[in-house]
Amino acid sequence: MSDSPPTSSSDRDATSDSKKAAARRRERSITAWLVGAVLLFALYTISRTPTVSEHPKDGGGITGPQLTPEMVPLVSGQEPLQVMFLKAGCPVCHTIPGIEGAQGREGPALRLGTTGPQRLADPKYKGKAQTVREYIVESIVNPGVYIVPGYPTHAMPRWYGQKLSAEALDQMAAYLEQLTEPSAAMP
Ligand code: HEC
Repeated sequence: MSDSPPTSSSDRDATSDSKKAAARRRERSITAWLVGAVLLFALYTISRTPTVSEHPKDGGGITGPQLTPEMVPLVSGQEPLQVMFLKAGCPVCHTIPGIEGAQGREGPALRLGTTGPQRLADPKYKGKAQTVREYIVESIVNPGVYIVPGYPTHAMPRWYGQKLSAEALDQMAAYLEQLTEPSAAMP
């Protein structure tokens, strides 16, 4: 006759399983954090370094931060979101709620849950997007289609289509789509 009741042993299994899962999660988030910190530092350095464009026709008249394709590695879409945005360099120019270090001011804050519908409703919008999600993807791969009023026309890089996988684009767009303007109480 066994003296240990079966319920307690299955409880123990469940606890040790969830402990393992928690440890795995912790490990993953530490890795993501480290990668993020390194990339952030790189981006900080880039954004502080005044770059002279090697292609004056692409960058003519831009005074703000610039990214050249050589500075940006391919983004596969397998990375955590935070890493995707950092690798792509979006934080250099954009404030993105929830993305550590994304406080750029060259472009509009990315809160497309609020601004997306406004862009689509703008009579000046002549793009193909029907949904906010499509608008975001279009803004990233084909930014010339619509320039957000009040922002420079050629600042947003034109080459993201070569750097972001379809998977990465999809995930980034899904994230940006659900960000909304902060309530009046927040800064
Ligand atoms: C060098 C600066 C720069 C970088 C880097 C950059 N952007 Fe932009 N972005 C801009 C500017 C300026 C605008 C506004 C002018 C325009 O519409 O092109 C803009 C516009 C946008 C818009 C439209 C926003 C709206 O409110 O309608 C989206 C979406 C966007 N960027 C996403 C991204 C993402 C995602 C990345 C990274 C993959 C990125 N941007 C990288 C400068 C940048």
